[in-house]
Formats: sequence, C-alpha cells, structure tokens
Amino acid sequence: MRILEEPVIEIRPLTSEDIPNLPQIRPTYRTDTILAVERSGSGYLVSWRLTERRLDKPFDKGGLYDFTPEMQASIRERLKRGESAYQRVAVANSTRLVGLLDMTWQAWNQTAYIWNLMVDLDFRRRGIGRRLWHLAVRAAQSWNARAITLETQQTNIAACRFYAQMGCRLVGLDESMYANVSESPDALITEIALFWAYPLR
Ligand SMILES: CC(C)(COP(=O)(O)OP(=O)(O)OC[C@H]1O[C@@H](n2cnc3c(N)ncnc32)[C@H](O)[C@@H]1OP(=O)(O)O)[C@@H](O)C(=O)NCCC(=O)NCCS
Repeated sequence: MRILEEPVIEIRPLTSEDIPNLPQIRPTYRTDTILAVERSGSGYLVSWRLTERRLDKPFDKGGLYDFTPEMQASIRERLKRGESAYQRVAVANSTRLVGLLDMTWQAWNQTAYIWNLMVDLDFRRRGIGRRLWHLAVRAAQSWNARAITLETQQTNIAACRFYAQMGCRLVGLDESMYANVSESPDALITEIALFWAYPLR
C-alpha cells in the first residue's frame, strides 16, 4: 500500500518573482448556504438581519477571486510599500504556491487592512489559513495597529466562519458594493460586502 505523505507547508515573504505564479493558488469556492441579508424599515430607520440560508442551487464564485493581471499589478504595487506591507505566501513542498496573505498598514486610521487571505481549494481545512492569520496579527501588532479590518461577501460562508472563529467581529455591510457585478448574465446572486474587524487594543 502506498502511503501519501502530507506536504510540508512553509510560509515565507512574497517576492516579485512569485507574482506571476499566484494563479497556482485557486481561491474560488462553491457553497450550498449563504448569509441571507434581509432589510426592513425605510429612510434612515432601517435594520438588517442576517440568517444562514440553504440555496436551491449552489453558488459558485467562479473566477471572481482570480489573480487577474490587474490583481497581480495591485499586489505588486503593495509589495513596493516595503515595511508598510505584510505579504506572505504558503508554499507546499518548496514548489507550489498554495496560500497568500496580503495586508497593508493604514496610518490614517491606525489599522491593518487585509486585501487577500486565500488558500488553494485542495489545501483548505489544514490550518494554513489560521497560520497566515496569526502572522497577520503579529505583523499588525508590530505596526501598533488598533485593529485588523477586512471585507468578505455574504456568499462566502466558509470565510465568515473562519473570521468569526479567529475572533473577528462583523461590523457592517454594504448592499451596493457589487450591484454592477449582479447585472452580469452569469450572476445568480447580488453579492453583499460584509466588513469585519479584529480589535488589537
Ligand atoms: C477562508 C479560508 C482562507 C480559510 O482557510 P483554511 O486554511 O481552510 O482555514 P483553516 O484550516 O486554518 O481553518 C481554521 C478554522 O476556521 C474555521 N473554518 C475554516 N473553513 C471553514 C469552513 N469551510 N466551514 C466551517 N468552518 C471553517 C474552522 O473553525 C477551522 O478550524 P477547524 O478546521 O479546526 O475546525 C479558505 O477557505 C479560503 O481561502 N477561501 C477562499 C478565499 C477566501 O474566501 N478568502 C477569504 C476572504 S477574502
């Protein structure tokens, strides 16, 4: 019987040479449940209620998180920021990129913002996200940030569970952020932005 060995996962700083290889990480997801956002009230007297809801048909993120040339260019721009960017890759067996953490320091409001925290489809639920998160917390503390902030979508229940498990608090939402994307013929659901914060002080 052949025993398949667990890959060794090393986490190291992102380099400029890694950027064209980022598409090795497949950040997409598919889900049977989402956080349904129900709005009630009118004018400025409104409230939102979030409930976990099973879908009739699974939601597939498709290529929306892909490392497009534009996204690679943004990551490269942040790499140029030196000490005020913290970017790490997870590498399997010293060969393949399987995870990315991409965070910057925002001096104006003393927070660290996570642009991307992604683990490849086949490498999830092995603690790589948690390892990247703990590194993010340490880096944000070294900047003396008061909080880490980030955004995900109501369709991304795995990420919501992950961030809640890491101790993040849901601090707001934006129903209009992806309204143009929902006009695409492929869009089955209008995505809603959910904002999270992890207090450090
Ligand atoms: C969210 C994401 C980064 C989590 O990475 P991961 O390496 O799978 O996470 P971990 O294995 O470290 O999980 C840590 C804990 O988070 C929670 N968690 C993670 N994924 C979960 C899921 N699908 N369902 C329920 N809980 C989950 C669990 O409590 C887990 O601990 P456990 O496995 O001991 O139960 C990964 O699912 C991913 O890359 N998704 C696609 C991209 C994305 O959504 N990025 C974040 C938004 S920008």
